[in-house]
Amino acid sequence: MSRIIDGKEVSSYIKEQIRKKTEKLKNKGLTPGLAVVLVGNDSASKVYVRNKKAACELCGFYSASYELPEETTQAQLLELIAALNADNRIHGILVQMPLPAHIDADAVVKAILPEKDVDAFNPENVGRIMLGNHSFLPCTPAGVMELLKYYGISVSGRECVVIGRSNIVGKPMAMLLLHDNATVTICHSKTADLASVTRRADVLISAVGKKAFVTTDMVKEGAVVIDVGINRGEDGKLCGDVDFESVSKKASYITPVPGGVGPMTIAMLMQNTLTAAELSKRS
Ligand code: GUN
Repeated sequence: MSRIIDGKEVSSYIKEQIRKKTEKLKNKGLTPGLAVVLVGNDSASKVYVRNKKAACELCGFYSASYELPEETTQAQLLELIAALNADNRIHGILVQMPLPAHIDADAVVKAILPEKDVDAFNPENVGRIMLGNHSFLPCTPAGVMELLKYYGISVSGRECVVIGRSNIVGKPMAMLLLHDNATVTICHSKTADLASVTRRADVLISAVGKKAFVTTDMVKEGAVVIDVGINRGEDGKLCGDVDFESVSKKASYITPVPGGVGPMTIAMLMQNTLTAAELSKRS
């Protein structure tokens, strides 16, 4: 039976550290500020945005939120970003993805000043993650690394397999593991004999977006299993990519969904906003 990795506990711990640091910063006259921008009516995005606002409050940040209608034009959105770029109360800008189809997400991400890009989606920040000299952590992968650290799980010299090659999770996840000296394999929809690759993993990270995708035959006895998936079952309940019931009997550690990686993403966003505020003072 595996040990459950409690993302809520770890994220609370991290947010409390951030709150304390923020208090000190505020005493010196600097309040970290985050702007969250939502365009359209995606119901999952609305929940994420609400959670991000609540986290800002908990950490003592200034937060500004913009809920724009679905028909907002790209020019209007770029205008708002330009105003936020110029606003010195705002240290971090987050535009919730996905954006409506008529808006070019790449153009939006590029418009955010790299020093305010707390998602680390801007090409400059993506490049810096690759080089290992980044100021901003890619939020979800960094959250996974924090969970491993908190539970004393070292990846150095170990086989880590990431399923999924997205720009938000799979690719930056592989980079952070590599920076910590893991031997990393990225699997995807074209990987031949996926189970034979995933069975090599000491640490298996799934970011696929399919319910019950990772089954026991894909997992080595005693592996650490991290589930980044957020899916909805037929019953309407949230679930991850991993068939938790069966895989938890084989893994040494496993993250649940909800309550695993999800809360960590927001904690890392708060960390990036604090970092952005601290760096703004130095420039
Ligand atoms: N949509 C899903 N995850 C994320 C994220 O980490 N950042 C943003 N901006 N949008 C998302």
